[in-house]
Amino acid sequence: MAQSETNKRKVAVITGGSRGIGLAIARAFAHAGFKVVITGRDESKLKAVVAATGSAEITGMPCDVTDPASVKKLFASVREQYSAIDVLVNNAGVAHALAPVETLPLEDWKKAIDTNLTGIFLCAQAALPLMSTGGTIVNNLSVAAIRPFAGMSAYNASKAGALGFTNALREEVRKRGIRVVALLPGAVATEIWDQFWADAPREKMLSADTVAQAVLHAVSAPAEASIEEIRIGPTVGVL
Ligand SMILES: NC(=O)c1ccc[n+]([C@@H]2O[C@H](COP(=O)([O-])OP(=O)(O)OC[C@H]3O[C@@H](n4cnc5c(N)ncnc54)[C@H](OP(=O)(O)O)[C@@H]3O)[C@@H](O)[C@H]2O)c1
Repeated sequence: MAQSETNKRKVAVITGGSRGIGLAIARAFAHAGFKVVITGRDESKLKAVVAATGSAEITGMPCDVTDPASVKKLFASVREQYSAIDVLVNNAGVAHALAPVETLPLEDWKKAIDTNLTGIFLCAQAALPLMSTGGTIVNNLSVAAIRPFAGMSAYNASKAGALGFTNALREEVRKRGIRVVALLPGAVATEIWDQFWADAPREKMLSADTVAQAVLHAVSAPAEASIEEIRIGPTVGVL
């Protein structure tokens, strides 16, 4: 059976799928035959994005990953509509304006930790009861999980924490045949840069589509193979 035929019965949930890397992953998965649920906080924007994809395989469901009730509601809706999840891509994430630790607003610290770290925990916890052998969780971290950047302490801390969580989760679910992938992209040309370096040289960055293809490749590996980490960045450095 062709890969896209096999994928037709598969369901992927992608948090933060309304733009950037998440949307590119959604398009790649839909093209490969998956049924795809994308999330974001803004329901009307989500509807417009889904319509613009022109894909009958992509559905939008609003969710704020920092809000436990919202996450619970999302996965209850997914359960009702699809019964099971084959792939969860924890992609929703935020950065923050550059600031040294002495002046970093507590609000920025909390938002980064709540979204990039606690959000992954909440979504993995809610998705796991719907997942079984052959399933894959992809956590979109960043090279910032392993490389420090001055002025980005909350982002660095959230991503490094999320890498620790990802590695522990992998060991917990390994025996159930669920694979856990840590995705560590370098610079990718998306809107997230507007939050801390609006004039960053996007032309030197990877496209979100390139990252999406790497994710699809990892998820499509045979069930007995686990690609545990994807490190992907521009050939010539940006930072
Ligand atoms: N671009 C890069 O260079 C790069 C490099 C390495 C890693 N990453 C990581 O890749 C992921 C995606 O980033 P991106 O570059 O594609 O950024 P982006 O274009 O800003 O997209 C971020 C997505 O996350 C959603 N989101 C933000 N907060 C959310 C929340 N509380 N609940 C639900 N959704 C939320 C946004 O939708 P709404 O605002 O509508 O909610 C949007 O869909 C992030 O985790 C980021 O840290 C990016």
